[in-house]
Amino acid sequence: MAQSVLLDPLKHSTFLVGSLKHLSETNLLTSVPSNYTFTPLETTNPDPILDDEIPTIDFSILTTGTPDQRSQIVRDLGTACQEWGFFMVVNHGVPECLRERMLDACHAFFDLTDEEKREYAGKHVLDPIRCGTSFNASVEKIFYWRDYLKVFVHPVFHSPDKPAGFREISSEYSASIRQMAMELLKGISESLGLKECYMDKALQLEVGFQIFIGNFYPRCPQPELAMGMPAHSDHGLLTVLMENGVAGLQVMHNGKWVHTKTVPNSFLVNIGDHMEILSNGKYKSVVHRAVVNNKSARISIAMAHGPSLDALVAPAPELVDGKNHPPAYRAMKYKEYLEMQQSNQLNGKSILDTIRL
Ligand code: OGA
Ligand code: NI
Repeated sequence: MAQSVLLDPLKHSTFLVGSLKHLSETNLLTSVPSNYTFTPLETTNPDPILDDEIPTIDFSILTTGTPDQRSQIVRDLGTACQEWGFFMVVNHGVPECLRERMLDACHAFFDLTDEEKREYAGKHVLDPIRCGTSFNASVEKIFYWRDYLKVFVHPVFHSPDKPAGFREISSEYSASIRQMAMELLKGISESLGLKECYMDKALQLEVGFQIFIGNFYPRCPQPELAMGMPAHSDHGLLTVLMENGVAGLQVMHNGKWVHTKTVPNSFLVNIGDHMEILSNGKYKSVVHRAVVNNKSARISIAMAHGPSLDALVAPAPELVDGKNHPPAYRAMKYKEYLEMQQSNQLNGKSILDTIRL
C-alpha cells in the first residue's frame, strides 16, 4: 500500500493514503482532491467514435468449429490483432457464476481494512502479492482514481489469505482463464503463419507467467477531473479483462480513444508488448486507459498471460528476413523487461520504445 503523506485539501491536514476506496467513502468526497486532479484535456474524449466496430471472436468456433470455420476464425483473430490489437470474446465457456464469484471476492478484498491490506503491500515488481493505490504511486505527483491488487497465479499459484474463499475462487478462475488464453494463443500463432504450438515452445508457456490484477475504481464526484488509469500498454502476450458491468476502458484506435461498452458475459482481450515483439511488430500492443464515473464503483479483473519469466523474447525468426522484414526489436528477457518497466515513469510510453531497433 502506498504510504505517501498527502495534504488533504478538504481538511487542510495531513493523512496517510491507504486505499482510495476508504478515503472516498469515509470522507464522502464531493469534489476531487487537488492531488487527483488532471486537466479536462487529459481526461475527456473530445472526439469519441462508435464502439460497435470492436471485433468479436466466437471462442466456441475456435475449439469446436469445423476445419473451415476454424480457418475463418483464425483469420478473424489475425485481422483483429493487426487492426485493433483488441477484441471481445464471447461463447468462451467460463461459467457466469464463476465470473460473479470472482468479482464478489475481489470486491471483498478491497473492503478489507487498510490495516488488513497492509500485509499485502509488496514493493518490488517481483513480489508475488502487491496491493496499493494509483498506478505507480511512488513516482507520481497526481494520483489515479484506483486501488489495485496484483497476484502471481502461474507457474506458482499465490493468493492472499483474506478474504475467506478468495484463494479457492481465484485458483479456479485463474485456471479457467488460462485455458482460454492458451487456446487463443494457439489461434494467434496460426494466424501469424506459425505452428499452433509455436509460442508454447518458444516462450515456455507451460511455465508461463500469469498475473491477476484486480482494479477498484471508486465512484468519482467529478469524473471529468480524474483518471482511473493512464494510457499504457500491457506487458506479456495477452490480457483478458472482465468487468462488473460498469464501462470505463478506452482503447486507442487510429489515433482516437474508443470507449468500450460492457457486453454481459464477455471478456475484453488485448495484445501485450511481448506479442508485438514476437510478431516483429505485425501485431501492435494497443494503448489503453481507464476512465471513471460518478454513478457507481467499477471493478475490473485483468489477467495477463506472458512467456516464462526466464524466456528471452525476440521476433520469431520465421517472421524476420534481412530484406523486407528486418528485426524490429532486440531480444530481452521477460523478467528484465518487468524490472525496467517498474523503474520507469510511463508518460504514455513503454519499454518497447527502448528496445525498438
Ligand atoms: C490493466 C488495465 C483496464 C481497466 O489492468 O492493465 O488496463 O479497464 N485495466 O481496468
Ligand atoms: Ni492494461
